[in-house]
Amino acid sequence: MSQSDQYAVFGNPIRHSKSPEIHAAFAAQSKQDMIYRTHLVEEGKFAESAHRFFDNGGKGLNITVPCKVDAFRFADTLSDRARRAGAVNTLAKQDDGTIYGDNTDGAGIVRDMLENLAWDVTDRRVLILGAGGAVRGILSPLLARSPSHIVIANRTVKKAQDLAREFSELGEVRGCRYEGLAGSQFDLVINGTSASMAGELPPLPAELLSETACCYDMMYSADPTPFMRWAAGDAAWAVSDGLGMLVEQAAESFCIWRGIRPNTGPVIEQIRASLNKSTD
Ligand code: ATR
Repeated sequence: MSQSDQYAVFGNPIRHSKSPEIHAAFAAQSKQDMIYRTHLVEEGKFAESAHRFFDNGGKGLNITVPCKVDAFRFADTLSDRARRAGAVNTLAKQDDGTIYGDNTDGAGIVRDMLENLAWDVTDRRVLILGAGGAVRGILSPLLARSPSHIVIANRTVKKAQDLAREFSELGEVRGCRYEGLAGSQFDLVINGTSASMAGELPPLPAELLSETACCYDMMYSADPTPFMRWAAGDAAWAVSDGLGMLVEQAAESFCIWRGIRPNTGPVIEQIRASLNKSTD
């Protein structure tokens, strides 16, 4: 009897990951014979665990916090977007036994905004809050959509300025502190900080949003995040959390592994329903 192809998500913590449910839904939909598990990576043990997984016949991995830079170092070859992001969320074993690393996070957010939400990026004034790994991963796919410009605002301003400089060859990007946003207006605001997790919100000035502004939180939860509540209170034209991004980045990984693009709409609905049920 042939064994199902093995996949997993590596990270720490990992218990609440939605990835197994998402990939099980993709596999059922496209009739792929595969198993997808979670694996808790002990501190400093990423490379050892990943070697063991692939040596035992594993086909592919998703990588989440805090292992994306370890995965970047682990890969034998890298996509351009992974190299730019300096982080890998997808590893795939190739026919020649080498491990290919990619980063599907940026493609995931762009696809969710463009295809699922029908938001535009081209010629829009874009503000990104935060300058950590999550933001680094989305900059090149966003810049590829030709926004008017991107401003990166961060509590630690140097990180925003360094990141802006690093990506400036791809388009107009500049970094500033939150106080520097006063008097500016934006059509698309993306929260890439981890402030929501602590129930916090970066200090944002009044009148930041244009009349048709869309606000996207890269975090997701059953209840609106502090950023989403702020956006709704400031009369944003549209507001979304990052659940669609989660499903879309998974779809992009699935496509790398299996060569099939899943239908994400029903899976976003399914995960949203299970998220709401788990907090009932
Ligand atoms: P990730 O990989 O998820 O991006 P990270 O690299 O630790 O995680 O980055 C977290 C981001 O959230 C940073 O931009 C951080 O700001 P600093 O660089 O100034 O630390 C931002 N952040 C976290 N908590 C925040 C808060 N309460 N208010 C504003 N920004 C916050």
